[in-house]
Amino acid sequence: MIKNQRIKKRYILGIDTSCDETSVAVVENFKILSNIMPSQTEIHSQYGGVVPSLAKLAHIERIDSVVELALKRARISLEKIDVVAVTYGPGLSIALEVGIKKAKEIATQIKKPLIAINHMEGHLLSSFAVNKNSTNSSKSIFLKYSSLFKKKPALGILISGGHTQIILVKNFSDYQNVGESLDDAGGECLDKCARILGIGYPGGPVVTKFAKENRKNVTYKIYNKNQGRYVELINKNSGEKYILPIPMAFTDDLNFSFSGLKTAFAELSSKKIITKENILDLCSIIEIATYEEIRLKVEKAIIQYNPFEIWLGGGVIASAYLKSVIRKIAKKNNIAVRVPFSKKLTGDNAAMIAIAAAFKIERFGINLPNKIAGIYLNLFDEIDRDPSLGF
Ligand code: KG4
Ligand code: ZN
Repeated sequence: MIKNQRIKKRYILGIDTSCDETSVAVVENFKILSNIMPSQTEIHSQYGGVVPSLAKLAHIERIDSVVELALKRARISLEKIDVVAVTYGPGLSIALEVGIKKAKEIATQIKKPLIAINHMEGHLLSSFAVNKNSTNSSKSIFLKYSSLFKKKPALGILISGGHTQIILVKNFSDYQNVGESLDDAGGECLDKCARILGIGYPGGPVVTKFAKENRKNVTYKIYNKNQGRYVELINKNSGEKYILPIPMAFTDDLNFSFSGLKTAFAELSSKKIITKENILDLCSIIEIATYEEIRLKVEKAIIQYNPFEIWLGGGVIASAYLKSVIRKIAKKNNIAVRVPFSKKLTGDNAAMIAIAAAFKIERFGINLPNKIAGIYLNLFDEIDRDPSLGF
């Protein structure tokens, strides 16, 4: 039935300047026509983390040329854009402001609606983005899922540098935050541990790379002892032994905590002579411990909410090892897993923001009621931050 229906092409320009990526994208419904994200890593790496004032300056310097490039790559003129979507938070406020100001400017110029999107909703829906050759229609995907939601919810597992969350998805735009980190995020834990080892920034990809290289050299076991859960890792060549606790392993809730793990890691590292081999082993054990904590809570959430599907999003999802850990539990429970089709969609990017806007339009129409979507159709001065988004 849907096949014969004419699907309206809607071009959305998305902007995300929540952290250190000045990202602009153009999508046609769920299809990515362009997704530009010049990284500022080279600016911040010397400081071992993102410096907000420098991020803001870099956004201001780059935003116009990135908008231009996104339109050029999409082969579309600004006048053809139907909607502008922008991240309103969470993120660094002085960095967010740059994108919001530019989005308002563009929407005013072309007299088109502006939709404000929660950055985490972008990560949540990032696996729905399709490449420009896809024949999938956004309408059919939307309708298929809308009927699935009548029977069961989905679970969003978002692991990034700023957040670690389990989102119960009852429908598109109907979310409940059922678990989150009480302190550091999963990616932040990897970044901080990498900083302790002095192996670079951002640390997540380096830890992943080193742990992968080292997989053949180590064995490990995970065990419970005295009401705690632990990872013990042994290097098969040197016989060196490492132990880390898994925080929050037996709490009844779906929350996470990573700052204690980082402290235990710092202590463990300080007891080891820092050789190349030991650094690789330390990367292996922090990877296993971090993902074991995530695995435990995802499994608990599956039992509690019986979802039909798991949606993965956030920078840390780029780790093949983490994906395999989650896929294993999902398979055991007969649940499908959605992952973004490209690594470019796991980290911060504007395409996911434009896709989230496309979903809002599918659900509520283009004239979204202000309260539902955090939209300010008439270009109100203040963006309506919608608490019903749940995060
Ligand atoms: O989603 P994201 O780009 O930014 C935030 O919204 O925070 O996530 C960044 C996080 C960083 O902590 C980074 O170290 C981590 O994602 N990350 C990875 C990998 N690539 C990025 N962690 C593990 N393995 C990776 N390949
Ligand atoms: Zn993010």
